Amino acid sequence: MAIFLDSGKIEQVEKYLKWGVIRGVTTNPTILLKDGVTGGAEGMKKRAQEIAAMIAPLPLSLEVTSNDPGEMVSQAREFASLADNINIKITIHGPEGEDDNIAVIHELETVHDVRVNATAMMSAQQCLLAALAGATYVSLFGGRVNNMGYDASDEITRLREVLELQGLESQIIIGSVREINNVITWLHAGAHIVTVTPDVIGGMLVHPYSKETVRMFLADAAKCEAC
Ligand code: E4P
Repeated sequence: MAIFLDSGKIEQVEKYLKWGVIRGVTTNPTILLKDGVTGGAEGMKKRAQEIAAMIAPLPLSLEVTSNDPGEMVSQAREFASLADNINIKITIHGPEGEDDNIAVIHELETVHDVRVNATAMMSAQQCLLAALAGATYVSLFGGRVNNMGYDASDEITRLREVLELQGLESQIIIGSVREINNVITWLHAGAHIVTVTPDVIGGMLVHPYSKETVRMFLADAAKCEAC
């Protein structure tokens, strides 16, 4: 699967879809706010429907806006019913470490047939619990892991090996890219998917020496035309 786009902007999704390089889109409330969504959950639903229709059958992650277990389940079901390709982000626990979310993940996947992206995780062991609960995707925030003094690559490699040893089918998504090189490094370490912002894709593509080489080709082609 390789690369998902971490964006809530229609124009950006359209652009990278045309490039053919993205295999899905991820959002969260922070991204949607930054990308101009207004009107609370209704606004998020509207933007999500637009993106989901544009990228179908590729997957779109949309996060619930509540921390109440009952509301998380009902909102997740409502969001998931908007389009077949929408999966629902549930944080691994609440802001104070409230532990209801794991049961929410399990209920959504096993009772309500809703695909879950368990998110805001900073360790392989959190991802393992989410995978055991049945999450389709487990999202580790690599840049934040590194910022805390750990090595995201170690967490990814150990997690991938454990998931395979245990026969767990969750797909590992790594978000929170901080450096262009993170993308290849984390995929090489064993992530199924790295979710990237448009800036990162731009940084992956353009290289100063490629620019210089292309300038040389074009200049020599022009000289050939003249001779
Ligand atoms: C991942 O799914 C998140 O949307 C995102 O990558 C988090 O990145 P940040 O640490 O830059 O907020």
